[in-house]
Amino acid sequence: WAQEQIALKKAAFPIGACVQALHLDDQALVDLLQRQVSQITAEWQMNMEYVIGPDGGFQFDAPDRIAAFAQANAMRLFGHTLVWYAQAHPAFETLDETRIGFGDAYRNYILAVVGRYRGRMSGWNVVNEPVTEMGDGLRESLWSRRLGQLEHMSLAFNTAREADPTAALFINDYNLEYFPAKRATFLRLAERLLASGAPLTGLGTQMHLAADLPRGSVSEMMRDLASLGLPIHVSELDISLVRADNKALGRQELQRRQSALYGEVAEAFARLRPNQRFAFTFWGLRDRDSWLRKENATDTPSPFDDLGRAKPGAVAIAGVFGI
Ligand code: G3I
Repeated sequence: WAQEQIALKKAAFPIGACVQALHLDDQALVDLLQRQVSQITAEWQMNMEYVIGPDGGFQFDAPDRIAAFAQANAMRLFGHTLVWYAQAHPAFETLDETRIGFGDAYRNYILAVVGRYRGRMSGWNVVNEPVTEMGDGLRESLWSRRLGQLEHMSLAFNTAREADPTAALFINDYNLEYFPAKRATFLRLAERLLASGAPLTGLGTQMHLAADLPRGSVSEMMRDLASLGLPIHVSELDISLVRADNKALGRQELQRRQSALYGEVAEAFARLRPNQRFAFTFWGLRDRDSWLRKENATDTPSPFDDLGRAKPGAVAIAGVFGI
């Protein structure tokens, strides 16, 4: 494939990328987004950490800008994320319950955020990272402590559905390809939510991978996730060279494995039934946009390089998706 011919959004299902409002000032990135993706996810500015401002009031300037960009470019908009153990805003910790109950404040937050973009979202990560690091149970959080585990999640799903009748509603987690125990707990949670009548309609697997992930891990995970029959979102795909466990591998071998692994992820996703292929989303289109660069400036985890040129991984994906 010549560089200019790569247009991943020609795939038979949505190709996505995360963005920050600030990114939309970068015309080179905007051009790349317009050529490559048909769905965008707010990298962090639809999280509670942004939406609830320093004074405890809501701030929607950045998410509104991202939503407007999606609308102006006929892109789907995916909402990330409503409830996350890692981002319980102090406003909830210090809530004056004589004024409003904790559950009502939790509901009001979800109604406000989901309601604002009602009818414009392809879906929401309603609960992000509900399973413990090694998969032996569900993470404790302010939400679970105050409202109960299944209770707070069911409340979140039912409230999101009340605020937006059409958005697909997901649980989303990471290392589901690395740890079968975590995957099993994640799937058990999905089954419990479905059994409780919660409107769970999709499973998100983040897929923050390292280039030396053993072959087969991805297809095993995808097969297990597919067994529930729900749509699957590869929601945050990137493949780090630096995070590889095998430090003996040289950079060239790591780059080769990275490209092959991008192809393996694409193959596992392409093998899903069409109604289960929700979207295939990169967490940073270009190396320079990746959150991993904060961790190590030499990492090159993305499908496109700093100049927006397709790397072998993007070419491998295009080949698998037949575009
Ligand atoms: O842009 C502001 C800057 O103006 C300010 O000076 C600085 C210090 O406060 O913050 C900057 O914003 C940071 C933002 O990233 C942009 O770099 C936020 O503080 C920081 O919290 C935010 O981190 C995001 C993180 O989630 C937490 O929300 C990362 O961008 C984002 O890549 C990361 O994404 C997560 C997913 O939500 C869940 N899965 C894992 C993934 C990677 O950690």
